[in-house]
Amino acid sequence: MSDRIDHLLNETRRFAPPEELARASATTAELYERAGEDRLGFWAEQARELQWETPFTEVLDWQPPHAKWFHDGTLNVAVNCLDRHVDAGNGDRVALHWEGEPGDRRTLTYADMTAEVKRLANVLTSLGVKAGDRVAIYLPMLPEAVAAMLACARIGAVHTAVFGGFSPSNLRGRIDDAGATLVITTDGAWRKGKVFALKPTVDEALREPGHGVTNVLVVKRGENDIDWVDGRDVWYHEAMADAEAEHVAEAFPAEHPLFILYTSGTTGRPKGILHTSAGYLTQTAFTHRHVFDLQPERDVYWCTADIGWVTGHSYIVYGPMANGTTQVMHEGTFDTPTPQRPWQIIERYGVTIFYTAPTAIRTFMKLGRQHTQSSDLSSLRVLGSVGEPINPEAWMWYRDVVGGGTTPVVDTWWQTETGAIMISALASVTTLKPGSAQVPIPGIEIDVVDEQGSSVGEGDGGLLVVTSPWPSMLRTIWGDDDRYRETYWEKFGDRYFAGDGARKDDDGEIWLLGRVDDVMNVSGHRLSTAEIESSLVAHESTAEAAVVGASDETTGQAVVAFVILKQRFADELTVEESEDVLRKHVAAEIGAIARPRQVFIVPDLPKTRSGKIMRRLLRDLAERREIGDTTTLADQSVVDAIQSQLR
Ligand code: WTA
Repeated sequence: MSDRIDHLLNETRRFAPPEELARASATTAELYERAGEDRLGFWAEQARELQWETPFTEVLDWQPPHAKWFHDGTLNVAVNCLDRHVDAGNGDRVALHWEGEPGDRRTLTYADMTAEVKRLANVLTSLGVKAGDRVAIYLPMLPEAVAAMLACARIGAVHTAVFGGFSPSNLRGRIDDAGATLVITTDGAWRKGKVFALKPTVDEALREPGHGVTNVLVVKRGENDIDWVDGRDVWYHEAMADAEAEHVAEAFPAEHPLFILYTSGTTGRPKGILHTSAGYLTQTAFTHRHVFDLQPERDVYWCTADIGWVTGHSYIVYGPMANGTTQVMHEGTFDTPTPQRPWQIIERYGVTIFYTAPTAIRTFMKLGRQHTQSSDLSSLRVLGSVGEPINPEAWMWYRDVVGGGTTPVVDTWWQTETGAIMISALASVTTLKPGSAQVPIPGIEIDVVDEQGSSVGEGDGGLLVVTSPWPSMLRTIWGDDDRYRETYWEKFGDRYFAGDGARKDDDGEIWLLGRVDDVMNVSGHRLSTAEIESSLVAHESTAEAAVVGASDETTGQAVVAFVILKQRFADELTVEESEDVLRKHVAAEIGAIARPRQVFIVPDLPKTRSGKIMRRLLRDLAERREIGDTTTLADQSVVDAIQSQLR
């Protein structure tokens, strides 16, 4: 991490917002002042931008670590994202420009989406789903995925979206933990020029009894052959054709659960992060509007995240749709059919705001600027980045090559747990520093502290904490409130511990430095070292395993595993065979995103005298760096043996 700090300390470039943006922004700049004077009053004003059935009278009830925001008010989240815009006369505004990977396209207006979600709400009800029930959504980037989330919200059901790349056992783990009774999936979807089947994963996940799923609702997309379980499986299009078109939405309390989203923690078991309704919607809508300077009447916004991750929830579905945004949604990958695809999409729809991840930007850089130059990107006026620290080189490339040298790049720091953006420049206000997330958004209070919890001085580094509750904060870990307390609130009293390292610069602004725990960030996806280790040791050939996140030029970090084989297997298999078997095993157990970049078969693992694996040392080895301090190492010869193995 120290290389990174040195590097960032030397970053002195500054970029003021372009004039047209700054001119319109006088009132945006005032938001900081307003929030500074009266933080709760400020959030109440933001919440009143929503449509309430019963207005709230209390803003915050804070019994650390449990917060209730606007809790005596009621509203319907889906009505706020859909019907409200139709009622305001904007039914003809495009909600989604959808691009299939093979080149097929669909355009859905706010009126179309409202109609779809009303029908789907009736379908869910007819399948027995009631308010408070959990629905697992295992869908790729289809308009139906957006509709599914909003239809759950409309009837007060709690969705839990599972990323389409996860394995059957991971899907099953989430279904069981959430107690889902319905799964919504698809036959298959397009990815890299082929149909990638999803329904078989659901079938496999549900094969062993003991789950509570009574129905599987299947969207037809891939047209691939699938197995069918009569009585359980239902075609989406058939159920929709039979459903009533009208649906009267009920209002739910502000704190009604909206969704559970599983994320990796420091132990092998994923955490079900619970978000509720009004506070979440308030902060996602507010940040979406002001971070990106959104003008819903004229902007075309494209967030490239997958709907299965929190960015898809907050910045494709809830924030943008609460704001009545016109957006682009794409199926498949950026390089299929050609590496020009993202730029052609921007030109085709005149995208004005583009929000993507550093790993994608670094891939674009590697492919070269000739791909961007074949399209007209002059419609772009704001660029965003999320998911991991963005290095100044990638930031500059993004601004210069994609943004024509003038377009502001906002680096947005937040987490599944925070629900919405917490630290970011505001595109129309902030003078930008490449590589820094910079300042807490209005109404958010952040600090960087040392291990003892004291605020560090300007120029110093430490741990990032949120010092007061915020509207879109997680409310608990589903089914495990003790873990919620321990993970986030015990370390520093009533301050939220984010798990990220950060530094304050001489202006007191914040530079994020990556995770300080055993969570890796691979292509902006959170993975737990413990989860991959337990998958490796579950394989019959493994005696012991240690996993580290080693830096990687494109993906930020990459999974590198060190494995000791059981003698029998060490005798039978070649090193290459073992590596291959184990990489495939992890991909099958967890999902392709967790597949180790490298598996090193080693005779032993470096441990301290008390028996703790020295991951720092393994990271040095994996990155082929000079290894750091080894004084606590129990047996020096272990390192020599591994080093000879790596050569
Ligand atoms: C990292 C994704 C630096 C961070 C929204 C955090 C970032 C984790 C940034 C959350 C950023 C996200 N700069 N680091 N702009 N954005 N991170 O839950 O380590 O998938 O703790 O949420 O990603 O990942 P998650």
